[in-house]
Amino acid sequence: MRLLEVKHLFKEFGGVVANSDISLEVEEGMTMGLIGPNGAGKTTLFNCIAGYYRPTRGKILFDGKDITGWPSHQVARIGIARTFQGMKTLPNMTVEENVMVGAFCRTKNREVARGEAQEIMELLNLREKAQSLPTELPIAIQRRIELARALATKPKLLMLDEIAAGLNPLEIKEILQTIKRIKEERRLTLFLIEHVMEFIMTISETVIVMAAGRKIAEGPPEKVAREPKVIEAYLGEKYAKG
Ligand SMILES: Nc1ncnc2c1ncn2[C@@H]1O[C@H](COP(=O)(O)OP(=O)(O)O)[C@@H](O)[C@H]1O
Ligand SMILES: [Mg+2]
Repeated sequence: MRLLEVKHLFKEFGGVVANSDISLEVEEGMTMGLIGPNGAGKTTLFNCIAGYYRPTRGKILFDGKDITGWPSHQVARIGIARTFQGMKTLPNMTVEENVMVGAFCRTKNREVARGEAQEIMELLNLREKAQSLPTELPIAIQRRIELARALATKPKLLMLDEIAAGLNPLEIKEILQTIKRIKEERRLTLFLIEHVMEFIMTISETVIVMAAGRKIAEGPPEKVAREPKVIEAYLGEKYAKG
């Protein structure tokens, strides 16, 4: 079944076309990867889907419903959760409270939210950190907290924006295993932006490549990685960085 469909989506900021005619489909239960050089428009696309930006043009369908222009809290309630690129956990809140914020998307009851947060913390091995402040914990654990908060909204579709950025190779391996495990246990569909190539290549069934606001390739990871226009887009980035 098709869970998410984006049709001819455009997002412009003044003169900048951050997303230009993006169409894609994500099937239920699959893992879709999204890659592309910095500034390609990946995060903007996630923001449009998750209701943080209103697309300039185009449509977003989820579970058969047209959700174009829905605000983020409503998008969360229909079953889309996302983590934010580079975003830290919420400061001055314990780990448990951070996770409860996710649960409040579906309940107003504090005890119900706490119960759900505890269940998710168990799943992500965060139980003994429940009363800690996230900012005092290692970054790899902070990423698990962000994951927990997203999961606490009980999503069908989990969208992760560079969840492995800044982690060392061992930590990347660990979070990859964790994501695979929760995907099975929670029967999730995944849509992942990742700069770490090994990460995206080992987990995704299909990869979409964006460059300069456009979708330039889509297919199985091994195949996409060999396409000349994809290699060119990444070479361009390396040259730009000097
Ligand atoms: N809120 C915004 N206001 C203005 N320009 C933005 C905004 N968000 C993103 N952009 C621009 O859109 C382009 C794509 O950015 P982004 O989606 O963050 O790319 P990526 O995630 O692929 O690195 C960039 O040129 C960026 O400056
Ligand atoms: Mg980004």
